[in-house]
Amino acid sequence: AARVPFIAGNWKMNPTSVEEAISLAKAIADGKGSSKAQVAICTPHPFLAACKPHLDKGGIDLGAQACYFEQKGAYTGATSTSMIRSVGAKHVIVGHSERRTVFHQTDEMVNQIIHKVLADNMLPILCVGETKEEYESGLNTQICAIQLAKGLKGVSKEDAKKVTIAYEPVWAIGTGLVCDASVAQDVHKFIRGWLANMYDQETADTIRIQYGGSVTPDSVDELMSKPDIDGCLVGGASLDPAKFTRIMNFK
Ligand code: G3H
Repeated sequence: AARVPFIAGNWKMNPTSVEEAISLAKAIADGKGSSKAQVAICTPHPFLAACKPHLDKGGIDLGAQACYFEQKGAYTGATSTSMIRSVGAKHVIVGHSERRTVFHQTDEMVNQIIHKVLADNMLPILCVGETKEEYESGLNTQICAIQLAKGLKGVSKEDAKKVTIAYEPVWAIGTGLVCDASVAQDVHKFIRGWLANMYDQETADTIRIQYGGSVTPDSVDELMSKPDIDGCLVGGASLDPAKFTRIMNFK
């Protein structure tokens, strides 16, 4: 397939100051080199504008980690798509497991946010994935199917092509326990089949599916060698320029 690989870094609630964010953005931009991937860095909201010019120099896209589905108004603490877009963000992570668990985001909210992001011409990265208990019960693909069905409810075929799916097994996030590449490939293949069934094969073949969960320089090459793994969503290793540089320049 002719899908362009897509590597995204998710800094989560790091680093702790705008000065550190700028120096990290500069180091990552310097490391992009001749990477064949599209690369995005999703910074915390307060650092978006400051990181934008530095990421631009390396040809790296800016992304946000979350947004709300309303445009404006009395929603204390919330951030709209127009706000993040106005400071240069192109991508938004939607439904990350940490948003679902720590901030009680439901599948219905995830779906409302997906619609809003697409309506505002931004590109969502929709996260799905099973917990450890669900994995151990053999429910990984079923959980993904439920989260996809609810998350993409009412999304047209044309809009679905703008979505990136991130398969992030919750038990692999931040644990150092990367999912075995062949198991991840099986889930990605399942997700692509689900998308083909929901939309059509051409749409499914267009949509990029990232793997996320403890991706490091040691695991990236094997993951990226799999036919249905089109990229990675990288947390911890995106805070280390040397590691993230190696990941962007996977073999
Ligand atoms: O969004 C990124 C994922 O949650 C993965 O995080 O690479 O620290 O495991 P991690």
